[in-house]
Amino acid sequence: MTKILVTGANGMLGKDLCPILEQNNYTVIKTNSQIMDITDFEMTNKVISDQKPDIIIHCAAYTNVDKAQEDFETAKQINSTGTENLAQICSTKDIPILYISTDYVFDGTKQTPYTPDDEPNPINNYGLTKYYGEQAIQKFCKKYYIIRTSWLYGIHGKNFVETMLSLAAKPELKVVNDQIGCPTWTVDLSNGIIKLLKNEIYGIFHICSSGETTWYGFAKEIFNQCKLEVNLKPCTTEEFPRPAKRPKYSVMDNANICGDWKNGLQNYLKLRERTQN
Ligand SMILES: NC(=O)c1ccc[n+]([C@@H]2O[C@H](COP(=O)([O-])OP(=O)(O)OC[C@H]3O[C@@H](n4cnc5c(N)ncnc54)[C@H](OP(=O)(O)O)[C@@H]3O)[C@@H](O)[C@H]2O)c1
Repeated sequence: MTKILVTGANGMLGKDLCPILEQNNYTVIKTNSQIMDITDFEMTNKVISDQKPDIIIHCAAYTNVDKAQEDFETAKQINSTGTENLAQICSTKDIPILYISTDYVFDGTKQTPYTPDDEPNPINNYGLTKYYGEQAIQKFCKKYYIIRTSWLYGIHGKNFVETMLSLAAKPELKVVNDQIGCPTWTVDLSNGIIKLLKNEIYGIFHICSSGETTWYGFAKEIFNQCKLEVNLKPCTTEEFPRPAKRPKYSVMDNANICGDWKNGLQNYLKLRERTQN
């Protein structure tokens, strides 16, 4: 059986991805920052040498986009140096690596979906550190998958769907309507990763849901699907300033790997209801 070592196995994506890998008959070695801190080269090298995985799926990251704006060094240490450590180890041991990257490597100036060949040009520190990670993978590894995904939500993490549902009772809820992207359920991303692993074609891929919306459109759909009456109002990015700039448009061409984002949301909400009852 193929043995896959997963970094960030305790994260929002990792917690959905690991069981889906197991259901697909992969042997999964789950790692976290306690047992394998990717910023520590010796520790990481030792775990990988001991475990001898056939492939590494690298989900671990510093993911707080706004905090990365103030704490560039920590974000860089984890997203860039940590990824470079893994890339060097994988290259020496000839282990393929699958690196999870982000739509935030793009500057958002395009008006049609970004393809894997489009040039990244990050506009915030998080995007920049993730892009450095992509560059390290490409520099050191021959066998790599770089998977860019977007606007992730999953049952095991703090995410936009849960934030919106927790704010539904507010007298008025303003949500940004001038950033366009594609919400993606972690389970849909995990199933997309399985498809790629089975194909064994290396390179850069975009795995996100199909279609596009704004954060306001996403919120509206959440409340529609949950049949909640909410006083939802669109607003501009300027009305809701954040430390990190976001791309205005970060929709990616996903080559139909995943279905429509509204279906992903529907499946997430069904699962959420089942787990809450
Ligand atoms: N969330 C999104 O909207 C989004 C969008 C696009 C792309 N992505 C990418 O998708 C991937 C998964 O994101 P996520 O939302 O699942 O992230 P998450 O919930 O924040 O999980 C990230 C995990 O990284 C681990 N980690 C942090 N520092 C580490 C270190 N030094 N060594 C080892 N592990 C470390 C943490 O492990 P511990 O718990 O053990 O500390 C944490 O569980 C990331 O690469 C992210 O950049 C996310």
